[in-house]
Amino acid sequence: MQRCYFDNAATSWPKPEGVLAAMDRYHRELGVAAGRGATRAASEVDATIARCRQRTARLFNAESSDRIIFTFNGTDSLNVAIHGCLKPGDHVIASTLEHNSVLRPLSELRQRIGIETTLIEPEADGRVEPAKFRDALRPNTKLIALLHASNVTGVVQPIDDVGTIARDVGAFMLVDSAQTAGHLPIDVRGSPIDMLACPGHKGLLGPLGTGLLYLRPGIERRVASFRQGGTGSLSEDDRQPDRLPDKYESGNHNTPGLFGLEAALDWLEQHSIAERHAHELSLRRHLIDGIGSSKSVRLFAADLPDELVAGVVSFVVDGFDPQEIAAILDQDFQIQVRAGLHCAPGVHRSLGTLASGGTIRVSFGPTTTVEEVDRLLDALRQF
Ligand SMILES: Cc1ncc(COP(=O)(O)O)c(C=O)c1O
Repeated sequence: MQRCYFDNAATSWPKPEGVLAAMDRYHRELGVAAGRGATRAASEVDATIARCRQRTARLFNAESSDRIIFTFNGTDSLNVAIHGCLKPGDHVIASTLEHNSVLRPLSELRQRIGIETTLIEPEADGRVEPAKFRDALRPNTKLIALLHASNVTGVVQPIDDVGTIARDVGAFMLVDSAQTAGHLPIDVRGSPIDMLACPGHKGLLGPLGTGLLYLRPGIERRVASFRQGGTGSLSEDDRQPDRLPDKYESGNHNTPGLFGLEAALDWLEQHSIAERHAHELSLRRHLIDGIGSSKSVRLFAADLPDELVAGVVSFVVDGFDPQEIAAILDQDFQIQVRAGLHCAPGVHRSLGTLASGGTIRVSFGPTTTVEEVDRLLDALRQF
């Protein structure tokens, strides 16, 4: 029996063939560091990384490719942004829906340098109310951080309305697009986004160990570098270069990872994001309809228009710990789902699932099929 993989919200699988081929070629035939040599192999590596930046800039409609910073995962991108822009006494507004990769840096900075934070609760439909962000503003509000879609419920948040509020008062707007990059269209020039953070290994279909951060022009003058070190440029100077992307990219790149990511972005350019979103939503609907009026399965799936949900569904099975269900699905049916809090405790506080071990999460990818969802539905009927 072939496995059914439903944990694309953690990391996507399978990756397009081109991703595997590009990484294989890098390891077998090139194997040199980026930005640090004059060999033909080094030139090819530099050209591939430059192309990876250009493809990312095109995907998000960024002003130029040097505004794309490569990091090592979504958490790293968020840390570069959060640690870089906050100073003692600054105030931050975020939502209770955020992933720990936002909540924990904020908590650390609250204790370490004395920032202030306000967390906004979602409404009954799982979306935050932008007016509550406006009401929470203080004279020292420096940053508003909001995820684009919840990694537990898939509910898409009103980032444009909240970003407009940030812009009105000159605060930074940081969007965590971990669950939307590659799944939903994102236009950083058409939206009031100052910083966009995402992994390369989820919806973008690149390998683990890759992440991205977009910075709006001018932001770099107000965002300090999170780590300093060798950049392969201006090496005679003991200060971190100011220019982009070097300011935020110290040390060797995950070069094989970027080869894979470049190939993944090439794959994405040849496929429609709108069609992919429609595909993932049709699978979501199929699952929700199939669970239907089951007495034992309780779904957390708000009835929202298509553009307000990503392909992520959470549910619980009465009488079972979510981990138990995940283990049975894996062992008996070769179906891989995710169980637990998904690093987002605030969502479970709202759903009432914090004390009972969270939810079972199903998340789709471009190659997930209806037959696989049917296999999951068949398996769930036994509970
Ligand atoms: C909403 C959200 N933000 C941030 C992250 C962190 O991304 P990474 O696992 O690449 O560090 C995740 C990962 O699950 C996520 O779902």
